[in-house]
Amino acid sequence: MKVLVTGGCGFIGTNVCLFHLKHKDEVVCIDNLYRKGVEFNLKLLKNFSNFKFYKIDIRDKKKIENVFKQYKFDIIYHLAAQVAVTLSVENPVEDFEINVLGTLNLLEATRKYQPESFFIFSSTNKVYGGMENLKIKVKNEKYYLVDYPNGIDENFNLDFHSPYGCSKGAAEQYVRDYARIYNLKTIVFRQSCIYGPYQFGMVDQGWIAYFCIQALLDKEITIYGDGKQVRDVLYIDDLIKAYWLAYKNNKKVKGEIFNIGGGKNNTVGILEFIKYLEKKLDKKINYRFAPWRPGDQKYFVSDNKKLRKILNWYPRIDLNSGFEKLLSWLKTHIKYFI
Ligand SMILES: NC(=O)c1ccc[n+]([C@@H]2O[C@H](COP(=O)([O-])OP(=O)(O)OC[C@H]3O[C@@H](n4cnc5c(N)ncnc54)[C@H](O)[C@@H]3O)[C@@H](O)[C@H]2O)c1
Repeated sequence: MKVLVTGGCGFIGTNVCLFHLKHKDEVVCIDNLYRKGVEFNLKLLKNFSNFKFYKIDIRDKKKIENVFKQYKFDIIYHLAAQVAVTLSVENPVEDFEINVLGTLNLLEATRKYQPESFFIFSSTNKVYGGMENLKIKVKNEKYYLVDYPNGIDENFNLDFHSPYGCSKGAAEQYVRDYARIYNLKTIVFRQSCIYGPYQFGMVDQGWIAYFCIQALLDKEITIYGDGKQVRDVLYIDDLIKAYWLAYKNNKKVKGEIFNIGGGKNNTVGILEFIKYLEKKLDKKINYRFAPWRPGDQKYFVSDNKKLRKILNWYPRIDLNSGFEKLLSWLKTHIKYFI
């Protein structure tokens, strides 16, 4: 089979590319190498003869269309994005152009040249906003929602907050609507925190990898907010499994939106994770607090029941074994983060 991966040199993209490359599929990757560090991933991917790379910015409609004219894709993974809330506040126009116009370029190229392919879009739980009106309590230095013991499902009110929340939210609605209006086979995943190898975590995004990298390098960690935030975390292999199951059942899931995350059994507090790392690495970790970011949720846990019901998907890799895998990958690759 042939697949296209936009943002294919990024964290999720590299893992998606590797999944298909190892299955001997033909993988076409589009990335403009915007994210610091991803050249490392590109170098690795270029070792595969079934990998083809185009250094293209998804804002460049013409170049995107040229790629679409050359191939017939079974799956289009649209993962390229401006991914940081903080950077979206600094430059909302660029964030809009990459996340909304870039996505529209991909959708239009799909409509014109690849209407049969399955189009996967990675959205975010940030589309639910800060959820400030919910009853919240603190226990053991961790927030929890009083009324949502199983987490947040797809019916929760949308409340785009921050330019990143707005741009991803607008983009995902286009993706969904192209299934209705143009009958494309599109699907949206509203992802919680995903973690794993090939993640060049930075202070603005990819906090689990960022914390581990800083800790391994004995550098200070910046925590936005008070550190009592709770997140559900999902190991990358489980996400890829959901993408694959969705493709296999594409008739059933066309036009659907799914929340996806580690769920209530895989939650961790920010300060709790620092304590975990201190124990694991047997050292004291330096950290400082910075102001909350706009739209930062105190608690977000994904309710995955829709995915379980339709695709029998649920997280298979628990957070302890996932963290072990990430740490061991980072330890052997730490020189690339210096
Ligand atoms: N990692 C997570 O926890 C998470 C959570 C929710 C949603 N997401 C979404 O998943 C997708 C992938 O995220 P990731 O964690 O792999 O991020 P990432 O930054 O590692 O990967 C994004 C890739 O897109 C590329 N890119 C950025 N702008 C581009 C442009 N204009 N043209 C072409 N390429 C461009 C970057 O160079 C990078 O390689 C994003 O859409 C993100 O919003 C990720």
